[in-house]
Amino acid sequence: MNVYDSARMADVLAPHGYVRVDDAEDADLLILNTCHIREKAAEKVYSELGRLRRLKPRGGSGGPMIAVAGCVAQAEGDELIRRAPHVDIVVGPQTYHRLPELIARAAGPARHVVDTEFPVEPKFDHLPDEAEPRGPSAFVTVQEGCDKFCAFCVVPYTRGAEYSRPAADVIAEVRRLVVAGSREITLLGQNVNAYHGPAPGGAYHGPAPGGADHGKAPSGGEWRLGRLIRELAEIDGLERIRYTTSHPRDMDDDLIAAHGEVPRLMPFLHLPVQSGSDSVLAAMNRGHGVADYRAVVDRLRRARADIALSSDFIVGHPGEPDADFERTLALVREVGFAQAYSFKYSRRPGTPASVLPGQVPEAVKADRLAELQSLLAAQQLAFNRRFEGETVTVLFDRPGSRPNQIAGRSEYMQAVHVDCAGAAEVEAGMGGFADVVIVEGRANSLAGRLAARAPGPATASA
Ligand code: 5AD
Ligand code: SF4
Repeated sequence: MNVYDSARMADVLAPHGYVRVDDAEDADLLILNTCHIREKAAEKVYSELGRLRRLKPRGGSGGPMIAVAGCVAQAEGDELIRRAPHVDIVVGPQTYHRLPELIARAAGPARHVVDTEFPVEPKFDHLPDEAEPRGPSAFVTVQEGCDKFCAFCVVPYTRGAEYSRPAADVIAEVRRLVVAGSREITLLGQNVNAYHGPAPGGAYHGPAPGGADHGKAPSGGEWRLGRLIRELAEIDGLERIRYTTSHPRDMDDDLIAAHGEVPRLMPFLHLPVQSGSDSVLAAMNRGHGVADYRAVVDRLRRARADIALSSDFIVGHPGEPDADFERTLALVREVGFAQAYSFKYSRRPGTPASVLPGQVPEAVKADRLAELQSLLAAQQLAFNRRFEGETVTVLFDRPGSRPNQIAGRSEYMQAVHVDCAGAAEVEAGMGGFADVVIVEGRANSLAGRLAARAPGPATASA
């Protein structure tokens, strides 16, 4: 979501004459868009700010303006300026549409400006259209925030309460992106499948009682995510739809059915379970058990037999004994994941889990993470090897790491690299789909050759 937010910040600044530069030294304005999810990500912000200090003349004015945006800004507020006085602007994820105004204020006598408000009017109502194309594969935020309050997680505090964008706004944004050349859209939300946006065509009554959803109540009913996906699938030129990150509790019947009925909805789903132990899931306040997760997976596989699954896992949540960690391994063996992210539990100030008894020692967390990751890596490699000799459809969206190489993603989200005959072939393939014969399934990617061409010396790449 920070990638999406950064692009939107560039949209906001473009009419004010700002263009992106590659080098910090060339910038008039530096924005660090930050993540607060784990301590390591948050601490990185301060080390990066330390590096940027040299760009500012000591004590005086001049040098680039420095802004810290995102969830670290939201969580730290004034404290950020105290720890890093060379920061000019602190702006949370809900108010970056005000950047031009914040920049003007920071250039005046105020010097330091902090905006961590949760405004009543959502920022989306104030964001201009895209200033530049987003590329073959683009993100679109449809939902933000979270009301679930998992015990370990800062998101409900940094991103705020759940909010769903009106369906008509999302459809309009996706149409614009497709006109500008995007072929794949990933719908984003901290709880994307909790989406319940106002349906198109509905007029708004005034503020809803209690101020839910930023005070807007739909009169034309609501769409859930499945309905939105079905509508987006009708857009000409949009070939692939994905969504992330979803919560097991919000996998409703229509969304699951969409996986079987909407060919443009890709057969890959990131569905975090966090733990394979009922007692740890209860301590995490996840609101579901292991059996519930398995049941959702079964329903998904009945709807779309080849669906590939991914998950997030946390090891060493407070109070997790060895036996409960073993249950996570057992669940992984049972479900089988095409890929996954796993983390050591990170104690986040202000969250309920941070004060739970039974904090797990770092060394134990490190051992568990290594064991879990080796199992997940083996599953990912096995999954990738299954594709050797198969033909997969790839959307090429970037150059590969080697000269004359092109890279993209399979339907199942695997990174796929192809060696091309020359730069012209790379250029011709970029932004489009091609059938690729997989030559080798590797730990984190697939290597292949373009199916249309006969294998020859120039293409014997893997
Ligand atoms: N410690 C470790 N991992 C965390 N995550 C969220 N909060 C924490 C934390 N305090 C992980 C979860 C979530 C992913 C985005 O980050 O697995 O799904
Ligand atoms: Fe955090 Fe996701 Fe839990 Fe919300 S559902 S609190 S974003 S882990």
